[in-house]
Amino acid sequence: MENAKFLLAPMDGMTRASFRLICFEYGADGATTEMIQSLALGRAKKRLSPTFAETMARLPGEGALAAQLIGSVPEMMAESARRLTAMGRFDAIDINMGCPARKVVGSGNGSALLKDPERAIEVMEAVKSATDLPVQLKLRLGWDDEHITAPRLVHAAEALGFSGVTIHGRTRMQMYRGPVNVEAIRQIARSVSIPVYANGGVTGARDALEFLRETGAAGVAIGRAALKAPWIFDDIKRLARGEAVPERQAPERVALVKRLAKLACGHRPEKVAVSEMRKFCGWLLPGLTGAGEVLAQLNDVTTLDGFNRLMDLWLNGLIRTGDIHIHPELMPVETLDTV
Ligand SMILES: Cc1cc2nc3c(=O)[nH]c(=O)nc-3n(C[C@H](O)[C@H](O)[C@H](O)COP(=O)(O)O)c2cc1C
Repeated sequence: MENAKFLLAPMDGMTRASFRLICFEYGADGATTEMIQSLALGRAKKRLSPTFAETMARLPGEGALAAQLIGSVPEMMAESARRLTAMGRFDAIDINMGCPARKVVGSGNGSALLKDPERAIEVMEAVKSATDLPVQLKLRLGWDDEHITAPRLVHAAEALGFSGVTIHGRTRMQMYRGPVNVEAIRQIARSVSIPVYANGGVTGARDALEFLRETGAAGVAIGRAALKAPWIFDDIKRLARGEAVPERQAPERVALVKRLAKLACGHRPEKVAVSEMRKFCGWLLPGLTGAGEVLAQLNDVTTLDGFNRLMDLWLNGLIRTGDIHIHPELMPVETLDTV
């Protein structure tokens, strides 16, 4: 447990610099950018779009950061790996063999490579030989129950000198639902000498520690649970030290969304950054009195000042009435399965 790492899993549209920094501040031991299309990077013009720029940014205070490439053309992946390396701001390059989206697998990328291990290994070799940075792999167990290719690919990663692998314990056909195969992760972790990080289905700090213990992995990568509770990394460390885990009340949550909004505004047009705050507020504020109305009012807010004013007004009201506590009964019963 002492050396175990708890990582922020890559999430498209989410694990950009601003959200990653928040997770690092709560104690994440590492993070990965959202996936970067090797084709897009290979052809990138000099000026990057604001969205892309935030993905590629690295803020002071961010810890160990891997840049994730997705693609299936070995030469293009190698070229992109060279470009990422030349940027000099990433600690590692990660290869995506997990994305299940129809559009992605339709063009042979992401988890489609699990159906074509020869091609997958060519991609791994191409990236590895194009960079001096550590290279890691993120994959699912296989395409479906009949094609469990992760053991072969993880052994290939070990033979190629990869620095680690993250295994999402589901197949592509399971998408984001259904049981995570803890035993399969455990067996793979036991069979190689490189670090294996377990991923999939963590719902809270206690659960993450249990997942670590059951898989015997070197660490755990956490995705959706961090969107709702980026403090999960802090909670894990407190639990591991035998301490109690605090409830995150209104002042902390409001400070967090204000900071996230400010950071995001540093990288993208204010209007876009503020409108994207609706989804983060929808995950981080429910359970607080009046969150529903505030979320509705956010639809009319287009500036950072307006966002801060709305949050301050609401928080001051909660502080005046002493109602700053999170009420589990006000939490909506929904999951992030479909984000
Ligand atoms: C919205 C969303 C976007 C994702 N984008 C990526 C991605 O860009 N690269 C990747 O390897 N995995 C991606 N994933 C998969 C996660 O990294 C993770 O493997 C998966 O969500 C299971 O972990 P969790 O149950 O802790 O969320 C994404 C998942 C979600 C929900």
